[in-house]
Amino acid sequence: MPFSQRSTMDQLSYWNEFERVKEISRGQGICNNGIYLIRRRRDDARFVLKSVGISEIAEAEKEALSYLRSHDSIVKLIDAFVAPTRPQTMAFIMEYCDYGSLHSLINRINRHNYRLPEHFIWHAFCSLSCGLAYMHYGITDYRSSRPAHWRRIVHRDIRPANILLKSDRHHRYPRVLIADFGLAHMSGLTYHPQFNGERERFSGRGDVWMLGCAMVDLILGTSGMTPIPPELGQDCRDCWAPSGEISSGLNLALEACLTIDNKKRVSSKDLMLGLVEMRQGERPKRERLPEWIWG
Ligand SMILES: Nc1ncnc2c1ncn2[C@@H]1O[C@H](COP(=O)(O)OP(=O)(O)O)[C@@H](O)[C@H]1O
Ligand SMILES: [Mg+2]
Repeated sequence: MPFSQRSTMDQLSYWNEFERVKEISRGQGICNNGIYLIRRRRDDARFVLKSVGISEIAEAEKEALSYLRSHDSIVKLIDAFVAPTRPQTMAFIMEYCDYGSLHSLINRINRHNYRLPEHFIWHAFCSLSCGLAYMHYGITDYRSSRPAHWRRIVHRDIRPANILLKSDRHHRYPRVLIADFGLAHMSGLTYHPQFNGERERFSGRGDVWMLGCAMVDLILGTSGMTPIPPELGQDCRDCWAPSGEISSGLNLALEACLTIDNKKRVSSKDLMLGLVEMRQGERPKRERLPEWIWG
């Protein structure tokens, strides 16, 4: 049954279909009470349970994820309901991204002093630009057009810890997905005035800036970029200086994301189109990556 219109008894039996396997992350977010790997008893399928104190943040996450349930680059919410065994707590059941976060991947490549092949960077960049274009405009891929009524969602917290990887047996590289919509702003929703001003100052171009920062970290194996977009008043000196170590196309795409003036910064839609166009005609030479890379 979608989105928990169940009775309390049904809710409890649904809850009992799962059992906890292990803790993935101890609640670090503002009101996150922990993230667990769980298994469904009947078929051993794996999911993630994110348990979050009931709050505006939990509500924002639920609204955004319920709206965005059909894109390959966005983590899928399976269900969300008040936890039967823990009042004041909301349970999110989500698809499990078995290769963890981009943040952990960056730490591993950093420890091994390893540089990712550019093909993997393009793969991540393209997947994430498609995810952003979908959130911002409702475009499902580069060929599709914009739906007439789309409730734009701005994520506001695109960074390596909120980007997840999921193995894909049909492809050499894992899927790359956007997660953690706790700070998202969705048009048409009213937020607490304390949050609203800041949420409104932050447009889709802020997400594009943050994506550029995450890609720089992925290329360099660092966490050096300040991800806060300059339009939020942060004194920002570290914009992208073209590097001879990467192709001119990738340099160009990073410059377009990391343009300080947000009115001149590329939109997610144009970024997606540009990246797809630059990749067209190119043979996908997907190099095999070392096994340790996935943790
Ligand atoms: N669906 C998932 N699959 C695998 N790991 C996940 C999943 N969701 C979250 N995680 C792990 O938990 C961490 C924190 O999750 P997140 O949703 O960002 O919560 P927080 O509110 O604590 O930032 C992520 O960086 C990732 O390592
Ligand atoms: Mg997070």
